[in-house]
Amino acid sequence: MASSILLVGLVAVCLAFVSSVQPAEIPLQDFCVADSKNSASGNGFACKNPKTVTADDFFFIGLHIAGNTSNPAGSKVTPVSVVQLPGLNTLGISMVRLDIAPWGVNPLHTHPRATEVLTLLEGSLEVGFVTSGPENWLVRKVLKKGDIFVFPVGLVHYQRNVGYGNAVAIAALSSENPGVIKVGNAVFGSKPDIPHDVLVKSFQVDQTIITRMQAKF
Ligand SMILES: *[C@@H]1O[C@H](CO)[C@@H](O)[C@H](O)[C@H]1NC(C)=O
Repeated sequence: MASSILLVGLVAVCLAFVSSVQPAEIPLQDFCVADSKNSASGNGFACKNPKTVTADDFFFIGLHIAGNTSNPAGSKVTPVSVVQLPGLNTLGISMVRLDIAPWGVNPLHTHPRATEVLTLLEGSLEVGFVTSGPENWLVRKVLKKGDIFVFPVGLVHYQRNVGYGNAVAIAALSSENPGVIKVGNAVFGSKPDIPHDVLVKSFQVDQTIITRMQAKF
């Protein structure tokens, strides 16, 4: 009797453990290749008919190609998310390639739906993220080739080249559609503009600075 109660207890503990370590959502089919002709579903893309799926639906060419960093930030992100690779649909994972010129920065941004784990393949890269308030701790590190850094979901972060040559990184993100919110564009480049008095009070600066910032975005 006592041992059967013990057994039931043990099973309950095991089940609790298993359920706590499972990902939140496991797909209910092997795959659900995004159907680009039928994207009208509520959360993600509808599945392509499995009979019409081919190997190419799980395949992407081109991450060896360097991004063009001739832009004001000196950086380029090449995404491989569900839009570029339909086979990622419902699987909760995607990738990007990041190229940063020697003077460049991947400006402050956040991924609302994904944690990012980045591997530096070439160069020397300063990375940082800021924790939520009230502490707003800046967690910062310089990476060299082969180093890995993780940016927790939702936190504002950046990457900056601190070497003499181009920096190249590959990152994995825990969503097939991680999204990106660029802080500057969201705050100073919204359409329509955020009302000036809101920005003036939010940043505790005068109107002329807000106008100058808006002109840049
Ligand atoms: C890179 O981008 C710049 C600015 O848009 C453009 O002038 C240049 O032709 C591009 N270079 C290549 C190799 O595509």
